[in-house]
Parts: sequence; structure tokens; C-alpha cells
Amino acid sequence: LSAIRIAPSILSADFARLGAQVSEVIAAGARVIHVDVMDGHFVPPITMGPIVVSALADEVHAAGALLDVHLMIERPERQVAEFAKAGADSITVHAEATPHLNYALGAIKEAGANAAAAVNPGTPASVLGEVGDLLDMALCMSVNPGWGGQPFLSSSLDKLARLRALLPASAAIEVDGGVDVRTAGACARHGANVLVAGSAIFGQADPAAAYAAIAQAAGA
Ligand code: DX5
Ligand code: ZN
Repeated sequence: LSAIRIAPSILSADFARLGAQVSEVIAAGARVIHVDVMDGHFVPPITMGPIVVSALADEVHAAGALLDVHLMIERPERQVAEFAKAGADSITVHAEATPHLNYALGAIKEAGANAAAAVNPGTPASVLGEVGDLLDMALCMSVNPGWGGQPFLSSSLDKLARLRALLPASAAIEVDGGVDVRTAGACARHGANVLVAGSAIFGQADPAAAYAAIAQAAGA
């Protein structure tokens, strides 16, 4: 996956009209929809689970788009099969959330989804080197996870470059947190090819126009 893609995060969407919001960004060109799952333990908020993934799956897949599920939950290996069954195309687990990262990535693949691992800002990129051969994607958190709308941590740029150098070319590099028209270009130049944006898209009056502006800034 070398093309640059912008993945709108529905965390900042209007949940009363979630399907319509997803349609808007798909019509604007989005082909990856990012779903933030939080359990109230790994991070303080509680958001959504497999039933929301399954509610969006038909619409997203009919458009040829993918559901990118970011699990900010403890012991994610216990849940990955349910998310895959619900329609997740890729599932990301946090390196900090399980003592069994290698096992969790294997469980994702066994469930038929693409496997990804995330690192928080305080976690070294190098932990993902140990599981590099299992990764379809690595996620570099560029904010501390839990909330949309936080400022981009500039130290993430060097970390993106370290991940790109560390991992096989077959692994996509995703960046999540504080991505907007000002930060997207630098993320892309430092090796990110999947750029998650929540508030910079769904927090704007015209999400389709905001999507297009970020895609242009990233060179997507
Ligand atoms: C944060 C989530 C992000 C969030 C990003 O914990 O993982 O996906 O939606 O929001 P923005 O783009 O507003 O920083
Ligand atoms: Zn996320």
C-alpha cells in the first residue's frame, strides 16, 4: 500500500446521522473509514463496539471502501474475532494493551482481517520490529489516545520515519491524532501512507470539503 490515503475517523462524527456522515466522505473519495473503539480501561472513554462496525459494513463495502478498526481496549486478543465477524477489514491492537502482541496479531489474521499494531507516543517504535513480519500496518499515535481534537505531537514525525525504516515495505504506516491540513504533508513526507483525521473532517461544517483539503495537503 504505497498510495497515500486519508482515513476519516467517525469518532468526531454526528452519531445521530452516522450513515449519512460516512456517505459524505465516501462520496468525497474516502476509501478507508477509521473506527475508534475505546473500553473505559485502556483509555478513559467508552465509545462503540462490533454492532457499530456491523451497522456500517454494508454501506462501506458496497462503495469499495474498507473499515479500519482501531482497538483502544485491554486484552484485544479476546475481541478480534467479533470485530472481524462484524466486518472489520483491518484491526489494530495496541502494543501496550496486551502481553501477547504476537498472538493477538496472529488471531487477527486467523479471523481473516489485516493485522496492525499501534504504539502510543511514549512507546518506542522498536517494539514493532519484533512483530514486523506479521504486520500489514503499523499505527503511530501522534496524540495520547482517548480523545479527538488534540494537537499533533511533533516528535511523531521522526518516529514515523523510524517505523518506515524498521518495517518491511509491505507494511503500511498509519498516523493518528492531530492530522489536519497543516500537519498532513509532513506526515506523508515522513513515511505515513494512511492518515487518520477526525475533528479536521467531521468537526468541520463541510466534511467533504475538509476531506478534499487534507487529501490535497497530503499529496493523496
Ligand atoms: C484518538 C483516536 C483518533 C481520533 C483522532 O484516540 O484514535 O482516531 O479520532 O482525532 P483527531 O483527528 O481529531 O486528532
Ligand atoms: Zn484512532
